[in-house]
Amino acid sequence: MSQYPALRLRRSRASAWSRRLHAETVLTPADLIWPVFVTEGTEEEPIAALPGVSRWSLSGIVDRAREARDLGIPCLALFPNTPHGLRTEDGREAVNPDNLMCRAIRAIKDAVPEVGVLTDVALDPYTSHGHDGIVDAAGYVLNDETSAVLTEQALVQAQAGADIVAPSDMMDGRVGQIRAALEGDGHVNVQIMAYAAKYASAFYGPFRDAVGSRGLLKGDKKTYQMDPANAEEALREVALDLAEGADSVMVKPGLPYLDIVTRVKSAFEVPVFAYQVSGEYAMIEAAAAVGAGDREALVLETLMAFKRAGCSGVLTYHAPLAARLLGA
Ligand code: PBG
Repeated sequence: MSQYPALRLRRSRASAWSRRLHAETVLTPADLIWPVFVTEGTEEEPIAALPGVSRWSLSGIVDRAREARDLGIPCLALFPNTPHGLRTEDGREAVNPDNLMCRAIRAIKDAVPEVGVLTDVALDPYTSHGHDGIVDAAGYVLNDETSAVLTEQALVQAQAGADIVAPSDMMDGRVGQIRAALEGDGHVNVQIMAYAAKYASAFYGPFRDAVGSRGLLKGDKKTYQMDPANAEEALREVALDLAEGADSVMVKPGLPYLDIVTRVKSAFEVPVFAYQVSGEYAMIEAAAAVGAGDREALVLETLMAFKRAGCSGVLTYHAPLAARLLGA
């Protein structure tokens, strides 16, 4: 069959209206989850490694929730910068119903109940060694002991009003235990978004500054987070988390792992989210700062790529900028 010149794919690209008409993927503010950092005190604290991102006080975080609502962003992801004096070997501050995280959840849900609150379930902002769980004498993160604490942590967050609990720790079996605990305590509509395929990545550095754990972290997280070499294993992780009751799954980091997003989406046909992590944000900002690319175009192109790959939504520090550009 002869194609050219009868077929010219450029025809549909020749004008803006036609490009819009032929777009296969749409990106809207409703696709965004905005990760925000909360800290004690009353001051806004800019984070040097994440230009344009700050830690906020409780009242600042409530203002961010109002901003999200006004921009059409459906959900915030909350991360606490726990005061250093409260960080311990066992991270017990994580299960204190009056910790910074729980106070932030309550403040947001009191003031702006229509915005969703997603909470991170992991111990790294609460431990003196910066790991996501309980470590033994050799520094190994203990699976079952950690899962038990995470289950309590998720319950405390749900009791404070969290809408989605998101275990980011990569322990085996924790999703099932968290689901059972939530059901047992009447939180039947609290969702679990499992960080199902979370890789041991070099892209998390600025985040660790933001929650104050970078300097504390002993060693690396390779005995629990996944090896970037693996994709089949990601499918097994997703299958297990879904079987244990996850409502949605996450792939993390984002852009370097879009192949994982697409494989997970086609294998399971469930809601898949991706986290465009702190190092990715910093790369875009650094590129824009030296004139290597246009910030706004880079942000929108990368976010569209997540949607095209199969994501239902994206966690991104660029959420407010993107929502503004998308004309909320
Ligand atoms: C910790 C957690 C991390 C991130 C989200 N939850 C860091 C880590 O695993 O060390 C990273 C997010 C980012 O880099 O933006 N459980």
